[in-house]
Amino acid sequence: MILFSFSAFEDIARELRAAASVQEGRFAIGRYDNQELNVRVEGTVSGEHCAILGTIAPPDESLLSVALLAQTLRKEGADKITALLPYLAYSRQDKDKPGESLGTAWVGALLKSCKISQVLTLDVHSERDKELFPIPLISFSTDALFAEAIRKHELKDATVVAPDNGAIGRCEAVKRAAGTPIGETPYFEKKRTDRGIVHHGPIGQVGTRAVIVDDMIDTGGTLVSACEKLRAAGVREIYVFVTHGLFTGTSWMKLWSLGVKRIFCTDTIPLRPEIDTTNIIVLPIAPLLRQALLAYEGVRPVAI
Ligand code: R5P
Repeated sequence: MILFSFSAFEDIARELRAAASVQEGRFAIGRYDNQELNVRVEGTVSGEHCAILGTIAPPDESLLSVALLAQTLRKEGADKITALLPYLAYSRQDKDKPGESLGTAWVGALLKSCKISQVLTLDVHSERDKELFPIPLISFSTDALFAEAIRKHELKDATVVAPDNGAIGRCEAVKRAAGTPIGETPYFEKKRTDRGIVHHGPIGQVGTRAVIVDDMIDTGGTLVSACEKLRAAGVREIYVFVTHGLFTGTSWMKLWSLGVKRIFCTDTIPLRPEIDTTNIIVLPIAPLLRQALLAYEGVRPVAI
């Protein structure tokens, strides 16, 4: 496999290359004077399996860059193209609402049209995303990663809480991986209203320490609302586990005043440098991606 990595993902790419029989793909993305993008691929890719490691948003141009790179690799004779998109942007647009875009289907069709054969991602937002994609969308779970952090940070006694009923399955999987009793998972009923997100709950018994597991933190609206309710229910310490840390805007920082002691996230999205990471613990995904490549792509391990 030849791995073409966008610069923000170079640390992960380096680990993948060091631990598996993956070659470094070299390419450059540039712009003409009129700002149209162009791609130059170095070396030969004819007959090869090429992987592209990156993201498709934000910013918007990353989607165009991935698409144009894939198109170029295929034009140069690549046999198969795997997009390694640790965070799959647009995956929350998975509901067919009248008058609204179905972004997941659109992105899937676009990637297919660029001759991308399959997409590998982590903790995709929903099973529906896989149905909407016209090419295989394979999602790997970070449950084991979260479970290890729960054990390491002595959080096994904390109650695992789901911020909405869609997250209950994920919470149970994390508990199973951490070796804690599954039992009932307290959860919230979540509604989006004109006033923002409204949570009802927690429904179920929560102790004084809680762990919330969700697929992502974006603006933090969901978690702020859930943590307010947990505080009101007597929870004193909250630990947030999310796979994708978007950390959009500044509202999510309110979590620190609501009893949140730590936010655990992975590096599926590189953290913006201005974010204060004092209480944010980033769990690296490179080992997981390496396993994924070994299992699904038949790349050979190398001695390390
Ligand atoms: C919703 O279905 C997701 O699982 C997340 O809870 C949500 O998208 C996070 O967004 P925000 O942080 O803006 O509330």
